[in-house]
Amino acid sequence: MTDTKERLSAVTVKLHWIIAVAMIFLTALGIIMEEFELHQLFDLHISLGVLLLLLVIPRLVWRYRNGWPEPAGNYTRFEHLSGKLVHWLLLLATLLMPLSGILMAIAVGHGLHVFGLMLYPESLDPANPGEVIMLSEPLQQLGEGIHELGADVLPLAIGLHIVGALKHHFVDKDETLRRMLGLAPR
Ligand code: HEM
Ligand code: HEM
Repeated sequence: MTDTKERLSAVTVKLHWIIAVAMIFLTALGIIMEEFELHQLFDLHISLGVLLLLLVIPRLVWRYRNGWPEPAGNYTRFEHLSGKLVHWLLLLATLLMPLSGILMAIAVGHGLHVFGLMLYPESLDPANPGEVIMLSEPLQQLGEGIHELGADVLPLAIGLHIVGALKHHFVDKDETLRRMLGLAPR
């Protein structure tokens, strides 16, 4: 059930790929909806981001209890440290992106809705029916600052991570990628 040098557990492999696909999708969706002002995509972005927390939290507990997987090959010290740094960044982003998004949405007064289900109500302005009022500008700015930092860092971190995985597979020809795909050792 736990991760070994030869084999990663099914929990590690499944959580990695479901969260990886969701993170790539939500990062791309966030950038596209901002760039082209596609406000109709906000609800989908927010709902999927909040639901992702249901997998991210168990994954963090799992990683904390199991520790990081042992290196599958003979990595250089630089590879080991840069890989570690990128893994930490990616893991932290899976938690901080949904949390900062939630903070931003609630603080700005929009409340929190997941596919129409209200988790936190909108703050309606009594003076202007139908309009929302900002609950806390400093908290909105904190959430937005973290979310935008993530938007800048994530594409780079994900890109480096993919290049690293491909290098292990095609150049070093070690088990790093095969192990994360749940394949038996060669
Ligand atoms: C893993 C989850 C998430 C990822 C990877 C993600 C990623 C992104 C990215 C890359 C952007 C574009 C930012 C920019 O170009 O400046 C964005 C925008 C945005 N996201 Fe997320 N997001 C996630 C979850 C959430 C959640 C849970 C919420 C709200 C509850 C949320 C609310 C927003 C909002 C409101 C914007 C527009 C940004 C703005 O007004 O500054 N996101 N997101
Ligand atoms: C096509 C995309 C991806 C590929 C090919 C890939 C591949 C891999 C591989 C081979 C490992 C094992 C590394 C080792 O044993 O040292 C790994 C680990 C990891 N990956 Fe990815 N990955 C991808 C996308 C992502 C994304 C988008 C995230 C998160 C945002 C992510 C987060 C992690 C983390 C945190 C680890 C450390 C082990 C763990 O906690 O499960 N990966 N990845």
